[in-house]
Amino acid sequence: MDKTTSGGFDLSYRRASEVRWQAHDLTKAVRAETLGQRPGVLWFTGLSGAGKSTIANLVEKKLFALGKHTYLLDGDNVRHGLNRDLGFTSEDRTENIRRIAEVAKLFADAGLIVLCAFIAPFRSERELARDLLEEGEFVEIFVDAPLAVAEARDPKGLYKKARAGLLKDFTGIDSPYEIPSNPELHLRTELLPPEELADAVVEHLRHHGRLG
Ligand code: ADX
Repeated sequence: MDKTTSGGFDLSYRRASEVRWQAHDLTKAVRAETLGQRPGVLWFTGLSGAGKSTIANLVEKKLFALGKHTYLLDGDNVRHGLNRDLGFTSEDRTENIRRIAEVAKLFADAGLIVLCAFIAPFRSERELARDLLEEGEFVEIFVDAPLAVAEARDPKGLYKKARAGLLKDFTGIDSPYEIPSNPELHLRTELLPPEELADAVVEHLRHHGRLG
């Protein structure tokens, strides 16, 4: 029997309609107040090799130094665990981002500032992630490097493999990347060093009162 069906019923739908939302007394607001910060999600999007992980890592260290409570979710790492069953077709990338967005929402609910470093190539999925959060909580950060620059860096040798036809559906080569139309921040990594760009992210958060 298919694992999502039983006696002709689709269990995934039955579950959704039979499970009620459980309200808890310890709310996000209470947790955030205790932690002395405003929870949120910093979503770093861009091509492979654009610098997402490097900058997210620096931002997290800077926030940590300020006494903020954070968690970093990174594409390469999450794909070793929670999303190890997913590949790089459009459907799998969509599911990858949907799961990450839900996890980020839970971590934000726990009061954390969550940093997400994923290519997230589709505008619609980034919008879905934004829509899961409250107004002002989602900060879309376009980590922008022209394809030629990202390809020249090629830190993992993946562009080379993709060009040689050894890696299918590679973003920027034979799979699309939809440029953010209205990101909160646009970081041009071929123009400024990662340290300065990370400072710009922290400054943006401070300016918008997100650091408590
Ligand atoms: S996403 O498109 O679904 O958001 P994600 O950020 O999780 O991608 O994973 C991207 C990482 O997976 C890249 O940094 C790269 O190291 C690796 N990778 C392996 N195959 C591919 C591929 N076909 N396209 C893009 N990245 C790939």
